Amino acid sequence: MYSEINHEVLVRTEHLKKYFPLRKSKKSESVRAVDDVSLEIYRGETLGLVGESGSGKTTIAKMILGLLPPTENTIYIDGKDVWDKKNNKSQRNSVGAVFQDPASSLNPRRPIYRSLERPLIINGFSKTEAKNLIYDTAEKINIGRELLERFPHELSGGQQQRVSIARAIMLQPKLLVLDEPTSALDVSVQAQTLNELLKLQEEFNMTYLFITHNLSVVRYMSDRICVMYGGKLMEIGSTGDVYNHYVHPYTFGLLSSVPPLHPKERHRKKYLLSGDMPSLVEETKGCRFASRCKFCQNICQKEMPAMKRVGEGHLAACHFAGEIKF
Ligand SMILES: Nc1ncnc2c1ncn2[C@@H]1O[C@H](COP(=O)(O)OP(=O)(O)OP(=O)(O)O)[C@@H](O)[C@H]1O
Ligand code: SF4
Ligand SMILES: [Mg+2]
Repeated sequence: MYSEINHEVLVRTEHLKKYFPLRKSKKSESVRAVDDVSLEIYRGETLGLVGESGSGKTTIAKMILGLLPPTENTIYIDGKDVWDKKNNKSQRNSVGAVFQDPASSLNPRRPIYRSLERPLIINGFSKTEAKNLIYDTAEKINIGRELLERFPHELSGGQQQRVSIARAIMLQPKLLVLDEPTSALDVSVQAQTLNELLKLQEEFNMTYLFITHNLSVVRYMSDRICVMYGGKLMEIGSTGDVYNHYVHPYTFGLLSSVPPLHPKERHRKKYLLSGDMPSLVEETKGCRFASRCKFCQNICQKEMPAMKRVGEGHLAACHFAGEIKF
């Protein structure tokens, strides 16, 4: 049973915002890609981040990774501000990342071994120390030594992704951000890679932020799930609560699109989402989801719902969270 207590916070964002200014706009308008997001990632857990395309998942990931500066507020990892220049170097090694397209993170003109060695040498490892660590990590993640001498294009997609995972974990980061890590892989390779990630997490005691569109994958991987829509958090809770006791209409809509895993779930009611996400440029007074929500009431258009606690560690941004009978 999920418990709110006894969790050590590794990552904390408070009212995090990222607005991208529109280049051609005369009225200094912006895309509100991430709009007032407060969340915590606990040490040792996997937090799954789901939501439709364009909901702001990658933008949050990039701010946590120190790749994209927030417009307002910041991120703390182990209590240290990621965006404080003094902490920059130590922070860089405490977070690793794996993205969807492994080829883009590997230099096409360099053999794999060199791509793995470079960050270690930069971090003060001797050639011998680097070699030992590379061989050790390669073995843990099933990369044969002969593969290390090849160039990226001579590897399969699954092998390339394993190399980028090896590179991300070599320096034993506290947090690993996985942004659609298996979306480009075949289903069988996908399952194998997900299981390897679970094994590595246990072995290295890592914390994962796992981002995906795939609701079945996120359910398999995550301890808790965070649902985003239009740059805002909609619902957060343990995986069991979000899948079985969701309280936000958007979560209901998202989950209705996945085939049920269990025969008991087959009789669940469905709510098929129609229409598109509204523009992120206009400021919304009320609920971001109002234009697509079949439970919308007058108040929803006028007042932005705050995060409401509906259970232990289970929160949702809906005026009627906990009251709607789905
Ligand atoms: N550099 C940028 N400049 C302007 N707008 C951007 C930039 N990066 C992202 N955006 C916009 O911010 C919003 C959120 O994008 P983001 O990539 O975070 O979404 P996402 O949830 O990761 O989507 P997907 O599931 O498709 O990867 C989108 O509307 C996107 O067009
Ligand atoms: S606040 Fe209103 S519009 Fe928003 S999700 Fe809840 S019921 Fe729907
Ligand atoms: Mg993305």
